[in-house]
Amino acid sequence: MACQSAKTAFALIGFHGSERSFLDKSLVTRPMSKQDAEILKSAFALPTETLPNRLAKAAMTEGLADAAGRPTERLHRLYDAWGRGGAGLLITGNVIVDRDHLERPGNVVIDREPDLAMRSGLRAWAKAARAQGAGLWMQISHAGRQTQRLVNPTPAAPSAAPLRLPGKNFGMPRAMTEDDIEAVIARFAIAAKAAREEGFSGVQIHAAHGYLISQFLSPLANWRTDAWGGSLENRSRLLREIVKAVRASAGTDFTLAVKLNAADFQRGGFGPEESLQVMRWLAADGVHLIELSGGTYEQPRMAGMEGMTPPDLRGMPASSRAREAYFQDFACEALRAAPMPMMVTGGFRASAEMAQAVRDDGVALIGLGRPLCVDPLAPAKLLAGADSLDRIEGRLRIGPGLLGPKSPFKMVRALNGFGALYWCYQQLRRMGEGQPPDRGLSVLAALKAEQAAQEAAMAAIRAVRRPS
Ligand SMILES: Cc1cc2nc3c(=O)[nH]c(=O)nc-3n(C[C@H](O)[C@H](O)[C@H](O)COP(=O)(O)O)c2cc1C
Repeated sequence: MACQSAKTAFALIGFHGSERSFLDKSLVTRPMSKQDAEILKSAFALPTETLPNRLAKAAMTEGLADAAGRPTERLHRLYDAWGRGGAGLLITGNVIVDRDHLERPGNVVIDREPDLAMRSGLRAWAKAARAQGAGLWMQISHAGRQTQRLVNPTPAAPSAAPLRLPGKNFGMPRAMTEDDIEAVIARFAIAAKAAREEGFSGVQIHAAHGYLISQFLSPLANWRTDAWGGSLENRSRLLREIVKAVRASAGTDFTLAVKLNAADFQRGGFGPEESLQVMRWLAADGVHLIELSGGTYEQPRMAGMEGMTPPDLRGMPASSRAREAYFQDFACEALRAAPMPMMVTGGFRASAEMAQAVRDDGVALIGLGRPLCVDPLAPAKLLAGADSLDRIEGRLRIGPGLLGPKSPFKMVRALNGFGALYWCYQQLRRMGEGQPPDRGLSVLAALKAEQAAQEAAMAAIRAVRRPS
């Protein structure tokens, strides 16, 4: 088996269960060989498009739209830089299908037929990103109960099940009606069609990380007793109906990908066996590629971070060796359960690990996130033979010990989590302005600056929405 052969490819460095492989970053890696570089440089053909290499910029919310939710020149500039950076595929950050359910003020929003100004902003975005030949997928999303209180104090969600996070940043959600659900499905279809018409090469439906579709998948957030809750078949109905609607509106010859959690890593949440079953269904439904990630705001495993409770690792495969990519072992299971193109994102930094995932495990694409916040040229450097990328995440913390990401205090852990993320947001803002990233920025300063920026963006949104 391809995935098993990985066990012999590296010297074993002792037994590492899944728990340790998530957290241990002091990995033994070998330098990249010429063959490894060739593997990462090889093209990847989907039925809909051919991507020039195996490196993908993972979705990263940019916060650079104007108050009406339209792409701006800052967004175009950022994607021009990433387009020049060598990745074969760029996936946009959350593009939101309902302006009352932003993941963050500053998201691009397509929740109706786009007007001319929106269309020209989208077209310029696609042109800038694709100028050097990369594929470009628009990630379409709805934040559901993970909508900040700043945006909406009573967000729509599958059930009135609040987020269990310290602080008061998220309001009490209200359960969606059938009409609400139908409206959301229709808006995903509108956004996908707009993406196709304005020059994107595909869309990715965001069904991971605790956003609306992921909430429907999870029994912890979905307490419904109608056709949209209960059995896995019912919980996955929203995702599958969106897939159907997007195929109908954007065409079956347009790339359709889904970002899915391997698991929520929360007791009673969406688990690994369920994830495998959903993948089988999605393969049968005509989805072209699955991107594997994991976690939620309460349990941010997508970034290898500590959550509010100890992670539930039941059903996750135990690795025979430490792997830096958080979901690579699960990808092997997934490829056996649903043999379809997989992209794996989270923790990849060493080029030899990336090449091995492609060559030995059969992964189609390697997703890269945080390294591209400080170095847009990171993919080109890997393709030119660099051994690894900067592991910036290890340095992003408010302080040591009690003040750090492993603090016994939930509030401090949450602040470290959001602080590390906001540090990255600040770097993207800088690049959008044409400035170089600032590696010396402190996490606390980033938290403050980002909060102020989000409040200002929200005030501007309210001002344009105010009836005249
Ligand atoms: C600044 C930032 C913004 C992100 N925004 C999104 C997003 O909009 N959609 C999404 O699916 N994931 C988002 N993520 C998660 C990344 O796509 C990726 O799963 C995660 O960073 C792990 O990959 P990495 O270890 O290479 O950073 C974001 C991550 C960061 C750091």
